[in-house]
Amino acid sequence: MGTRVVLLPGDCIGPEVAAQARRVLDALPIELEVDERPFGAGALRETGEALPDETLVACRDADAVLKAPIGHPDFDGASVRPEQGLMKLRSELDVYANLRPAAQGDIDLLIVRELVSGIYYGASGTREDGTVFDTCEYHPSEVERVARQAFAIARTRGSKLASVDKANVLETSRMWRRVVTEVSAEFEDVELEHILVDNAAMQLVQFPQRFDVMVCDNMFGDILSDEAAAITGGLGVAASASLGDSGPGIFEPVHGSAPDIAGQGIANPAAMLRTVSLMLAHGLDEHEQAEAVDRAVTTALERAPTPDLGGTATTAQFGDAVIEALS
Ligand code: NAD
Ligand code: IPM
Ligand code: MN
Repeated sequence: MGTRVVLLPGDCIGPEVAAQARRVLDALPIELEVDERPFGAGALRETGEALPDETLVACRDADAVLKAPIGHPDFDGASVRPEQGLMKLRSELDVYANLRPAAQGDIDLLIVRELVSGIYYGASGTREDGTVFDTCEYHPSEVERVARQAFAIARTRGSKLASVDKANVLETSRMWRRVVTEVSAEFEDVELEHILVDNAAMQLVQFPQRFDVMVCDNMFGDILSDEAAAITGGLGVAASASLGDSGPGIFEPVHGSAPDIAGQGIANPAAMLRTVSLMLAHGLDEHEQAEAVDRAVTTALERAPTPDLGGTATTAQFGDAVIEALS
């Protein structure tokens, strides 16, 4: 069987940026089957499930999953939301290491976000007295595996790892710090620093050049990766790769479905296309094609910037510029 990618076009600007990803994949000189499946708000409306079983099975069987953003204001406040489908997909594929690179000028950092545990997956609910709770739980093995990935990646880059936590307050963070320190014994060539999350948020804005790889729990990584995107060109250009130990990775932009600009044809597809590049490199072992797409996106950012970057290009015109730069 040939290489198969499941494409999840998602919601709001999702299908707009996914269409450009499809065009670019079709333009590459490689054999690739692209299998589009329902997921997110559209799927929830049609089938009652944000992640229909058929979609999950197709994802499991694929070589890689390319996912556009999901989420729709119609479900704000609803008890079943499209985002739950995304949480389930990540968990089912056990893609625990979410790589979120952010680079511009002399800034070149990579956030490794733990993706399938922590407060986003802990017990939650409402007690009889009306108290609402979300709990943050980590098993040491969950910290160990993501830390090991982060150290291994740091070794291939600047050999510096900043581990982000809130060890001055949280029990989970104290365990996180202990386990990361233990894992560091296997990576003596990597310089390890522990940094409290509030300080990390400040330094990321003030001295972003000092960071190489940052490893964070699920929630800290979610927040700091939007911040890292903001200092390196914005959410419109920030891509991510979510990887496990085996099975397909999930490749998705850092940004959401941007309902505020949906339907206008002005969404920046650069994040989605850089995500295609990450998929080619980390998911399909197509390193040459990955570099070609990355270079073409960089060229298009100069020639056809979209409104979020101060330009006037439409989503499709940005796609045109990428295709042109590829040929
Ligand atoms: P968002 O990332 O969708 O948008 C934040 C701001 O950035 C908006 O002003 C938006 O217009 C802008 N923006 C984002 N991507 C852009 C792009 N490609 N081009 C130009 N501008 C862009 O965040 P939000 O508004 O908080 O969330 C909207 C929905 O997306 C919610 O339902 C949320 O749950 C969902 N979401 C999904 C994912 C995902 O699927 N991985 C990620 C984040 C948020
Ligand atoms: C992201 C998003 C998701 C997350 C939401 C939509 C579940 O914010 O991918 O960063 O929190 O992981
Ligand atoms: Mn987020």
